[in-house]
Amino acid sequence: MFYFGVDYYPEHWPEARWPQDARLMAEAGFNVVRMAEFAWSKLEPSPDVYEFGWLDRAIDVLAGHGMRTVLGTPTASPPAWLMAKHPDAFLTRESGRAVTYGNRRNTSPSNEAFRHRTRRIVEEMAGRYHDHPAVIGWQIDNEFGDRDYDAPAFRSWLRGRFGTLDAINERWGTTFWSHTYTDWGQIPVPLSTGGVPNPGLALDFARFCSASYVEYQKMQIDILRERCPRHFITHNLMGFTYDLIDYFDLARDLDIISWDNYPRGFWNIAADVDASAMALGHDTMRGLKRQSFWVMEQQAGAGGWDVVGVTPKPGELRLWAYQAIAHGADGIVFFRWRTARHGTEQYWHGLLGHDGRPGRRYQEAKRMGHEIARIGDDIVGAQVRANVAMMLSYDTRFALQVQPNNPAFSYPAQFHGLYRALHAQQQAIDIVPTDEDLTPYKVVVVPSPYVLTEATAASLERFVEAGGTLLVTPRAGVKDEDNAVVDRPLPGHLARLCGVVVDDHDSLPEGAVNALDLPGVPGAQGRIWCDIVTPQGADVVARYGDDFYAGEAAITVHAFGSGHAVYLGTIGNDVLNEALAARLLEMAGLASGPPSAPGVERSVRWQGDTRLVFYLNHTDREQVVTLDGGDHRALLGEPAADGRLRLAPRDVAVLAAKEG
Ligand code: GLA
Repeated sequence: MFYFGVDYYPEHWPEARWPQDARLMAEAGFNVVRMAEFAWSKLEPSPDVYEFGWLDRAIDVLAGHGMRTVLGTPTASPPAWLMAKHPDAFLTRESGRAVTYGNRRNTSPSNEAFRHRTRRIVEEMAGRYHDHPAVIGWQIDNEFGDRDYDAPAFRSWLRGRFGTLDAINERWGTTFWSHTYTDWGQIPVPLSTGGVPNPGLALDFARFCSASYVEYQKMQIDILRERCPRHFITHNLMGFTYDLIDYFDLARDLDIISWDNYPRGFWNIAADVDASAMALGHDTMRGLKRQSFWVMEQQAGAGGWDVVGVTPKPGELRLWAYQAIAHGADGIVFFRWRTARHGTEQYWHGLLGHDGRPGRRYQEAKRMGHEIARIGDDIVGAQVRANVAMMLSYDTRFALQVQPNNPAFSYPAQFHGLYRALHAQQQAIDIVPTDEDLTPYKVVVVPSPYVLTEATAASLERFVEAGGTLLVTPRAGVKDEDNAVVDRPLPGHLARLCGVVVDDHDSLPEGAVNALDLPGVPGAQGRIWCDIVTPQGADVVARYGDDFYAGEAAITVHAFGSGHAVYLGTIGNDVLNEALAARLLEMAGLASGPPSAPGVERSVRWQGDTRLVFYLNHTDREQVVTLDGGDHRALLGEPAADGRLRLAPRDVAVLAAKEG
């Protein structure tokens, strides 16, 4: 079943209103709600006193109108009594000071008292709802993430990883500045060290913080799995942009991935929305388990806490929700139902306004609800099949947070720049971890594999040897797993594969560029970082145009086995990224998608041998797409007899075609 619904907070509204809400949801074609993820104080008003009656009634009222419930465990916002009783559970921030009560996500996942209270509420909820016919699944907590400056917990994690202090001293190289540790208690959390900490310690601390959320989540999952075997378990993640948790690790214990998609949050009140940024979020989330996912919070209106975000324009809510579906979503849940009257998120607009009246946003969701009721079964379970993969490494991301190398060097921005260029070529793209089997792909792009294991290098070699086309970008192979610099020429373990040695490099001053001499691509530029590359078997494709290394190699291609490894020694501007994307596809024998229209995204899912093609008009003008012939069954949006598809501003079409 395709799940389509809304995040609902019955505890914010008089009970007398619930039946009307449930009726409006049913009329909109909704079949699911998520509830209770912030309702701890209503569920456990005082220690070990549980009150589930109100939630039972809410679930029943909604079920009476056809709604299934996903229950959130409410641990992201502990009640005031809990924190007053256990002040040591408050999270410490970078300043070294603990937060005070008054927001959420304010606890350390390692704190034993908090973990005890967590187990109790989760056990009680699981016991209450394990066989409720309307409950289908659980969301653990809400948007995990932060640092965990719990020094004893960090040390015990280090013991598990390294075993002995000698191993730590050796692998972190603590002789430097006399940091040799002779007792576990001497190891600091890198809070107020007065400067850049030891890179080995800092990377392991980032890993520990990530692992401590993964472990805290696992503690909840174990309880739910045992008591609610019929229910699925998910967590609402934060897409590509969130960078303090290794999402591949967090995903491992979950049944399905869900995430929160806010193209127009309040933190970004830019006029334009970048469709490729949303697409990257979806592809990253699909990549975590290589399976369909849900959007558990799909933007329903303008964002707003203190500042009010730009309101989504007519058609955008539906367009964004269909874009999620085009990239693999099998569930869409809007956040939130009705705009809250109280609390920090008073201005976070729901489908209904403060006054509870259904307006244009509700009507737009309702339109889509009726469409999904008609076409959801055709879509649900359909796969995205990609020939192109991009390798995402959280170890690299964490290590580059510690030492960005250049103030402008941003792993996520570079990753997005390369993704945008491939996405513009209408390629389906899988986002894969460093240990993924690369056999299914024709092109693999590995932005800055800074922390690189021999195993990953060997897997990339096998991929190219067997005929793959690889792109690697600078700061490749610089660090080992302990964040120590390798003692071999760069790109380290990739030097043989890329057929180059990086003899020198230049970290560019702010705003500086180096014009590249790349035949046929005027305007190609290197930015931020320039590796001065000496080919050792590779052919030179582009040379630097400026500075003392003008004429030296900037981009090379190395024929290796039956494939090719491309080394890009700099961070490309858009012109260069676009040219490279086209070139890589060409080298791999992949045609870029059939021409679409400006600003129209074309994305494909496969239901067996049926191709479902989504056309998404991200512009505010009508666009006309010329279809590529063949018979189409229009699920949404009827093409004209002349094979042209007219898409109104922000409109969507879905066409099905049988292959073969
Ligand atoms: C996040 C949270 C929600 C809500 C929205 C809007 O995605 O998961 O609880 O706070 O943002 O701020």
